[in-house]
Amino acid sequence: MAPQGLARGLTNYGDRDFARYLRLSMARAMGHSSALLNKPVVGIASTYSEFNNCHRGVPELVTAVKRGVLAAGGLPLEFPTISLGEVFLNPTSLFFRNLMAMDTEEMIRAQPMDAVVLVGGCDKTVPAQLMGAVSAGLPTVQVVTGPMMTGRWRGERLGACTDCRRFWAKFRAGEIDGDTIAEVEGNLATTAGTCAVMGTASTMAAIAEALGIILPGTAAIPAVHADRIRAAEASGTAAMALIRQGITIRDIITPGSVENALRVLLAIGGSTNAIIHLTAIAGRAGIDIDLHRLNQLSDATPVLVDLKPTGPFYMEDLHAAGGIGAVLRELAPMLNLDCLTVSGETLGERLAVPAPYVDRAVVRARAAPLQPEGGLVALFGSLAPRGAILKRAAADPALFEREGRAVVFTSLEDLAARIDDPDLDVAADDFLVLQNAGPLSPSGMPEAGYLPIPKKLAQAGVKDMVRISDARMSGTAYGTIVLHVAPDAASGGPLALVRTGDRIRLSVSDRRIDLLVDDAELAHRRAATVPTAITPARGYARLYAQEVLQADQGCDFDFLRAEPSRPAP
Ligand code: FES
Ligand code: MG
Repeated sequence: MAPQGLARGLTNYGDRDFARYLRLSMARAMGHSSALLNKPVVGIASTYSEFNNCHRGVPELVTAVKRGVLAAGGLPLEFPTISLGEVFLNPTSLFFRNLMAMDTEEMIRAQPMDAVVLVGGCDKTVPAQLMGAVSAGLPTVQVVTGPMMTGRWRGERLGACTDCRRFWAKFRAGEIDGDTIAEVEGNLATTAGTCAVMGTASTMAAIAEALGIILPGTAAIPAVHADRIRAAEASGTAAMALIRQGITIRDIITPGSVENALRVLLAIGGSTNAIIHLTAIAGRAGIDIDLHRLNQLSDATPVLVDLKPTGPFYMEDLHAAGGIGAVLRELAPMLNLDCLTVSGETLGERLAVPAPYVDRAVVRARAAPLQPEGGLVALFGSLAPRGAILKRAAADPALFEREGRAVVFTSLEDLAARIDDPDLDVAADDFLVLQNAGPLSPSGMPEAGYLPIPKKLAQAGVKDMVRISDARMSGTAYGTIVLHVAPDAASGGPLALVRTGDRIRLSVSDRRIDLLVDDAELAHRRAATVPTAITPARGYARLYAQEVLQADQGCDFDFLRAEPSRPAP
């Protein structure tokens, strides 16, 4: 049997016993007893960082995980990895997601551990941890930090960050003044934890529960709730059980569980970003997510959860209403119930236990859904040969079957310079188009797809317009917004060929987005267009530019989707 615990993966330079002796003598300095040093090791990937407000509670969770490991007879060893605090990173957090995934994968593989517990929460951290952990292939349990609680302001509940956007839109439209927006700013994010709405972090927590990689019932527990600490403790114990049973992350993240995760994503009206992340996580296990399959699932999956940005509720309400377990029970006839979870039971066994209580205002019954079809659809057509995403649950159906005149912005800088220009030639029924904000652009695919309504139109009361780009959108945003257009403009995709005045046709019912310009003219423009992607001279930015894949492949790096060249020791 392969060595366990601290004796795993010793480098063999000829005298293996010496290597073991050297490692154990160093381990002595940790101050643990001899008995503990001989136990199976559970590594705990900690993402605490003072640049990550969402992870303020991570130390407390890590302490609880340790307790669970110790109680089950193992040695818990915490190690740090990169942490990605969504709003503190330049150019974007997505740009660094793959770096964090590499850090996580390599540190799991390089260090002697028999299982790993991943503690993360903010938007890109759970995807990065799961991508790395799938490639590393050990028994794995994810712990999420949990969502923030809402704050109160003049009798209103506020939660990051759909309400951030709502108030900023009022400020732009001149409905509230600078003093008021400053007061609001102080009440949007008032506790540790991830954004309080169904944004990307909450969506990824829900997906993690659907995948079976976090403990059942734990996705929506608020960050500051004592149950969150108990969930962390139980996760440490669960990691020890996975070691004993020989269950690895590859037994849990399977084609069946990935499809379950897509169902849940659609049923919760989840973030568009989650499509990219789930594609990347699945890709590490050799599982492809076909956007045509997404559309099939979307047509047959009702929206059941009524959280912001589309509904009135927050994550703390979802937890009190029955959590993701309540959603899974409604979806059960559509799910692959034989999938294994980190609790050691199958999804079917878990769901056979009836829910104690479900608040139907927050989690609807399958027979009485919020919407009969799923929250997201993929669009294809001459403007997006490899697909684009529309969150129809957050969009205005009045704009779904439209032809419009393109008003093109060639970059983020161009957008910033002109969008509020009183002389901008734009009308409410035009389509705003943003180029060069995709994965290969220098901006690293920011959440810029939520193009602001031009100020003069906002002041005239326009609330939504068709907006099209190769960028992403925050999961907390809403509008008729076509995102992730692939291939992106920077790589020379058709999006790069759009000019102001062109006609574009959107048909959500046909799942199409087409540029109505004839082939000869497009060929002429293509010949005159130089792709704007550049390869930086050095560092991570160079690796990123050389390796990043398009959105339909999860924006992973090409060489990371392949099987690992070095198996776990
Ligand atoms: Fe971390 Fe929103 S900023 S989840
Ligand atoms: Mg976000």
